[in-house]
Amino acid sequence: MASPLEVLEHLVNAAVVHAFGADRAGVDPALRPSQFADAQSNCALALARDLRRLPRDIAGDLAEALRAVGLEGVASVETSGPGYLNFTFTDAWLSARLVELAGDARLGVPSVEPETIPIDYSAPNVAKEMHVGHLRTTIVGDSIARTLDALGHRVVRQNHIGDWGTPFGMLIEHLLDVGADSDEAALLRSDPNAFYQAARRAFDGDPAFAERARNRVVLLQALDTETLRIWQELVGRSKDYFNRVYRRLDVTLTDDDLAGESTYNDDLAAICDELEAAGIATVSNGALCVFLPGRTGRDGQPSPLIIRKSDGGYGYATTDLATVRHRVRDLGADRLVYVIGTTQSQHLEMVWETARLAGWLPDSVPTVHVRIGSVLGADHKILRTRSGDSVRLLSLLDDAVDRVRDALSERPDLSDGARDAIAESVGIAAVKYADLSVAHDTDYVFDADRMVATTGNTGPYLQYAATRIRSLVANAPSDEDALLEGSPVLVTNESERALVLDLLGYGSVVAAVGRSYEPHVLCAHLFALAQDFSRFYETSPILQADPELRRSRLRIAVVTLDVLTSGMGLLGITVPDRM
Ligand code: ARG
Repeated sequence: MASPLEVLEHLVNAAVVHAFGADRAGVDPALRPSQFADAQSNCALALARDLRRLPRDIAGDLAEALRAVGLEGVASVETSGPGYLNFTFTDAWLSARLVELAGDARLGVPSVEPETIPIDYSAPNVAKEMHVGHLRTTIVGDSIARTLDALGHRVVRQNHIGDWGTPFGMLIEHLLDVGADSDEAALLRSDPNAFYQAARRAFDGDPAFAERARNRVVLLQALDTETLRIWQELVGRSKDYFNRVYRRLDVTLTDDDLAGESTYNDDLAAICDELEAAGIATVSNGALCVFLPGRTGRDGQPSPLIIRKSDGGYGYATTDLATVRHRVRDLGADRLVYVIGTTQSQHLEMVWETARLAGWLPDSVPTVHVRIGSVLGADHKILRTRSGDSVRLLSLLDDAVDRVRDALSERPDLSDGARDAIAESVGIAAVKYADLSVAHDTDYVFDADRMVATTGNTGPYLQYAATRIRSLVANAPSDEDALLEGSPVLVTNESERALVLDLLGYGSVVAAVGRSYEPHVLCAHLFALAQDFSRFYETSPILQADPELRRSRLRIAVVTLDVLTSGMGLLGITVPDRM
């Protein structure tokens, strides 16, 4: 089902060709919502520049051409301002489209030509705390994965956890020292950073320990059975920790999606050999390096991608080359999506460029880096605790949930259990929505008070809007349900009109998020929808209206609830039973 803007896009395209010939077919119809009409096109401005004519005249010609090509569903096209075209739909057209939407299980979300899309997100490190940076890639990545799923793509979630490398020498030795059953070892499941820090302290302060740790790395790399067993133990405990966080965040990742660095161990030697044999990698100061054209450091010296260190060890770049090869060759990727911090963009570009040279990444497979910006503290620096440590993710979540619970303390109607359930649902939604509603590549200040507010562009506001509509619908006379299905939708005033337009635009917004990887666009649409509902509710009596209008408005309310719930689902936010 085409959205109103898409319908107009087709019309404007046809009119442009009609008036100015097929050469101009590619011009952007530049359609957007308007204050003065249902939609506005600014395309006359660009055409006027090309054709060296007055925009106003171009707009006039287009209006005429539009009438000639036919304007199904459009009540009027008017020119205004320097050369805008304002469109207004007929009420009947809007009504018919909304009835169609109400009967559409997909609520207007299109089914696209399915592509196989591995998406790399979350990717925390074993025996280390998940920090706010991981929180953001987890939340944004999960929303993109849900959206691509909903559009009909074959999404392959890839959780590239850091489960291999030199720190495991000291982590294994520390686990042996404290004993697997100790309280210290239990930290791996509750506060992994504390465990990591303790291992680090031993490493820095005790030369004998450091020596053992280094020997342990050699054993690990040699795949010594006993060492691998202890390593497994460490990884297993970390997985428990990650899963706890994922379940609490209601994130779709499971153990099946784990594809950590260690999964590629067997591929790394061959990757290096192949690149060396092809002349793409060369040995420099003992290390095997890929020198890419134009890649220089600040000093103007070439900055290579190092794929094998001089001690023979492989690093982050080598495993990432393996991810590209695996995802294209074995998973059959049509495009590759990596949801990772902005700071890693140079790394990714160099990996992809190398993979293209090696023939592992054909030109037909585009790559996307969804750049994740930083989460800042009130001082506008990377969020840290007062002692300077990175903030524990679970404590951040607890904090948000506590704030909501406190705000609910004045509600005698709630049992303790109900209060806890609401606080958990709303607190988590608050944190997730804060991450999703700003452009993912910008930094933002973590402001727990603002996030949990039920006013403004927040997760709790959307949850509140949805629960309110649900209770409104539930309070409608019970015999109404059966009648709703067949009843017409009437567009009788401006607030109904604005709301109906939002509802009809939902599917194309979801499709746009699938192309641009920007969940904040969906957030903005849902926020506008919730606000427009609230205006509609204030100006258009529902239960008091006479039967025909009441049914029409109830129907609009039901569709609004469906669209809100569906959109929030794509953001990974649930509607609590009550608030
Ligand atoms: N574990 C890495 C980190 O914590 C992120 C990995 C992202 N994924 C990738 N394929 N490089 O920074």
